[in-house]
Parts: sequence; structure tokens; C-alpha cells
Amino acid sequence: MKTIFITQPLLPKKEDMFAQIEEIFASKHLTNMGAKHNLLEQKLKEVLKVPHLQVFNNGTTALLIALKSLKLPFHSEVITTPFTFAATPYSISWNGLNPVFCDIEQNTMTIDADKIESLITKKTSAILAVHVYGFPCNVVKIEKMAKKYDLKVIYDAAHAFTTEIDGKGIGTFGDITMFSFHATKLFNTIEGGALTFNSKLLEREICSLRNFGRIDESAVEDIGLNGKLNEFQAAFGLLNLEIFEKEKQKRAKLKDFYDKNLSKIKGIRIPQMPGNVTNSYQCYPIVIEDDYAINRDELYEKFRKNNIMVRKYFYPACSDYECYKDLASSKHENLPVTNDIKNRVLCLPFYGELSLEDTKDIFKILV
Ligand SMILES: Cc1ncc(COP(=O)(O)O)c(C=O)c1O
Repeated sequence: MKTIFITQPLLPKKEDMFAQIEEIFASKHLTNMGAKHNLLEQKLKEVLKVPHLQVFNNGTTALLIALKSLKLPFHSEVITTPFTFAATPYSISWNGLNPVFCDIEQNTMTIDADKIESLITKKTSAILAVHVYGFPCNVVKIEKMAKKYDLKVIYDAAHAFTTEIDGKGIGTFGDITMFSFHATKLFNTIEGGALTFNSKLLEREICSLRNFGRIDESAVEDIGLNGKLNEFQAAFGLLNLEIFEKEKQKRAKLKDFYDKNLSKIKGIRIPQMPGNVTNSYQCYPIVIEDDYAINRDELYEKFRKNNIMVRKYFYPACSDYECYKDLASSKHENLPVTNDIKNRVLCLPFYGELSLEDTKDIFKILV
């Protein structure tokens, strides 16, 4: 039986990649901020409409360094969402900080900015919010809260490559924003990521933390790590930058097709982007309501039996993880929306090459 995957990686033409490899071999510069790495940073700044950007070998390393660079007091609290990938709260814990989970909004499934204030204590140092599936958080309310209580704001935009609010790049909000360029993301460098920020002051700190805390050949300033992206992956990224817009257009058509046909099915809710937001077309989530014929888990099993690889992103919630389940903020009654949505959400296969035949097979399961 044929398998329909949840996504397919965006791949440049093999011949183009081979030509890039020839160049890298000729240069003998394989890593450590080579020409392709630097060019990728330049181009990404334009594409994402941000003033400052540094690339990394993955999004998780980038997030670890984002938190480290802000010099948050050890053991202070960072308010975050439980409806995300493990890397979000883990980056807080790895920095010796304590995650505090805040519930999410029904439609965007991002952190509920109205519930943040009640979680702020004397120990709170930052908010780490996630633009889940490319839905932007309520950046206005979050900024207001951060100003009022003097908190840093970090955004996890792993799903939000080229998302814009009123034409403004999503990476310009908050103190620092992280992007993931993992193979499953719309734009990928196989593994990779980036940090974007507005303050030039962060440039030196982030650059040094990415390279073992080194400032130059003889000066080491801080406890950094190895976050460098190599030349092969930078080249792969440069080529994918030329084709990702086409992939986005194909996904936009697929989204229209899904929207039109799913809206006829009772009990399936399609979360919608606000009108002033440019979609990143990273995922296609649906929410299974009580009046659908079967529940989410039964639907998931039905898909899987037919080799259609839908995903329960994000189930379990991070507040259910063994390492976090006993936190006060993880208590079930504190996270009613998260605990409802995590049992209802399902991401459907979503990539430009998904064929009409494949979509027919998907709808056979849904109706
Ligand atoms: C919301 C979110 N944050 C962080 C990450 C981590 O990114 P990476 O896989 O590039 O380390 C992911 C990865 O999929 C993610 O979905």
C-alpha cells in the first residue's frame, strides 16, 4: 500500500547542489562562517525583513543561545506555552531556568496573552511564546505585558518562516525570534535555524555564544557551544531560497482545496489566520469537534491503517511530560484549553507535491 507522508522536504535540483559542492571543494572552506554561510545570512535578512540575523546548525541550539544571550537570572521563571514541541520548554530548562506554563487561545492555539499577567511573580524574567503552525501570538498584548513588568520576550517561530503581520516580518517582534530550518519546515537547510533580533548590541554576544564563547583567537568570554552551520547546508539553503516561494504557492492552492471541501463536513473546524497575517503554509491543522462522527484518536487510527501519516501535533502537551507534569502550572485545571485542544487537533498531509489522487484518498477517510 502506498504511504502518504505528512510532508515532503523541499529539495533543490541535484545538478545545482553538485555545482555548489564543486565550489566548496575548490574553496576548501567547509565550515566556520564561510562565504556561503555569510551569503545565506544576507539573503535571509531580506527575505525575513529583519535588521539582524545569525544562522545556526539547528533551531534548538539557536533557542538555547537566545535565552543564554539575554543573561536571565539563574532559576528565574520563564512563562511559556505547553502547546509546542519539546525544544521550547527544554531550552528553558537547559539554561537553568524554570518554565511556567500558560494556557492557550482557542483559535490561534498560541499562548493566551490575557492569562499571562496572573502568572507573573517576582521571579519572572521572560516570556517565551510560540507562533504555532505560523499563527502569530498576540504580539501587541505580550509587548505591553513585557514593558509593564520589565520582561524579555523570545518568540519561537519554528513554524513561521515568512509570516508577516501587516507586512512586518514576524522576526522583528520581541527581543529575539528563533526560526527552524529542519527538513520538515517550508524552508530547510536539512538541519538548521536562525535567530533574528532588533538590537545591534546582541550581535556580538550571540555570535560569540554560537562559537564556543570565543570573541577572537585569544579571547573567550562566555560558556558557549557549537552552533555553526556548515557550507554544504548553507549552499542547500541558498538553493532552496530560490524555490520556496513556488512551494508556498502550491501549498496555498492545496489549502484552498482543503478549506473548501472540509467546510462541507460537519464537526471539523479549520482554524483561520487573521486577515492581516501572511500565512507561512507550514502545517494544515484541523480541530475535531464533538459533532464529528468519530473522535480525533479514532480518526487518526483510520488514517494510519490506510498508510496516511497524519500527526497529532501537539499531543501530549509539554505539561504532560514526566519532567514537567508535577509543576504547579501544569495542573489540569490551569490549562483547560490546552487539554481540550491537544485531544482534538490533527495535522493533515501538507506539501506542494501532494497529488489529486492523494487528496481523494484523504477525503475518503474524512467523509
Ligand atoms: C515549535 C518548535 N520549536 C522548536 C523546534 C526545534 O527546531 P529544530 O528541529 O530545528 O531543532 C521545532 C522543531 O520542529 C518546533 O516545531
